[in-house]
This record gives sequence, structure tokens and C-alpha cells, in this order.
Amino acid sequence: MPIRFDIRKLAESSDIFVETGTLRGEGIACALAAGFNQVISIELSDEHFKFVDFMFGALVEHGVLTLLRGDCAELLPRVVSQLDAKGQIATFWLDANHETVLYPSLDAIANSRCKEHVILIDDVRIMGKAAPSVDLDVVMRRLRAINADYTISREMGVQPDDIILARPAQ
Ligand SMILES: C[S@@+](CC[C@H](N)C(=O)[O-])C[C@H]1O[C@@H](n2cnc3c(N)ncnc32)[C@H](O)[C@@H]1O
Repeated sequence: MPIRFDIRKLAESSDIFVETGTLRGEGIACALAAGFNQVISIELSDEHFKFVDFMFGALVEHGVLTLLRGDCAELLPRVVSQLDAKGQIATFWLDANHETVLYPSLDAIANSRCKEHVILIDDVRIMGKAAPSVDLDVVMRRLRAINADYTISREMGVQPDDIILARPAQ
């Protein structure tokens, strides 16, 4: 679902935007418009992957965009290891199926050597409802376990306060 708040400040403090769940590429477009120079996006569906590969092929060729097809629970740990190896700070946009992959995605980020990543989590409105196994309090505790000093706010997505933004204290 969409990011509906200004993320340009995040592009100033991160080297790269990493998205779980590409769908039709709206998150990619938003990240590039905000000033991110590098984007990695992971998508499970072959159909969505092929569509976005067709739409954004030129960016892939120019090395601005990396599209990965597969399960982010499997692929995100590898992406995080690569970021660690390069010493890169990321903004993570966690927007795939929360019921199955939100906690594994947070685990992958928690395993990073870097504690300065920015984390955006979509769809708070469905936590404990359409995503019954996802508990907002648990999500908050996991974010604090990654970085106890995170500034955590709620931002505009498909509705007000639908996106969690966790960012290192300034
Ligand atoms: C809400 S949409 C993403 C919207 C997109 N991030 C945006 O900003 O417009 C969720 C996407 O996650 C994908 N998805 C679901 N489970 C996944 C998984 N385990 N790994 C990667 N992608 C997954 C779905 O196929 C779908 O395209």
C-alpha cells in the first residue's frame, strides 16, 4: 500500500531504499522521487516481478534498481548481509504479507551489524485483525530491541497513522 508522506529526509540519511513487496512499483517510484539513488525491491509473484522488470528495465540496466524475485523471508537476510559488507545504511519499507513475513523481516534487520537503519512498516490498521498473528506491541518491542533509541512515529499511508516510521535519534 502507498507511502503518503514526505520521505525526502530519509533519503538524506540512507544510502539505499530496500522494499519487501514490489507489486506494481509504486514504492520504487516514490523512493526515486524522494531522492534515493539506489533501490532494491523483492517480489514473490512472477507476474508482478515481470511487469515491474518491463516498466523499470532501464533503471535496472543502469544499476539504480535491483529487482529480486522470491520470498523476502529468504532473500532479505542476504540483502542485509550485502549491506553490512558494504557498510550501507538502508531505509527498509516492509510492505509484503505481514502475516507470514513481517517478523522474519524484522529478524533479518535485527541481525544487521548496523543499528542505524530506518524502518517503515505498512498496514498497522490490519495488525491483530486481517493479520491476526501480528501484534502492534510486539512489533514496537522488536523495533526497540533493534535500537532502543529509535524515534518512532505513525505516518500517513492508505489512512492516517497506518505506517510505522522508526528512525535513529537525530
Ligand atoms: C501491499 S503490496 C506492495 C505494495 C508496494 N510496496 C507499494 O509501495 O506500492 C504487497 C506485495 O507483497 C508481495 N508479497 C507477498 N508475500 C511476499 C513474500 N513472502 N516475499 C516477497 N513479496 C511478497 C505481493 O505479491 C504484493 O505484490
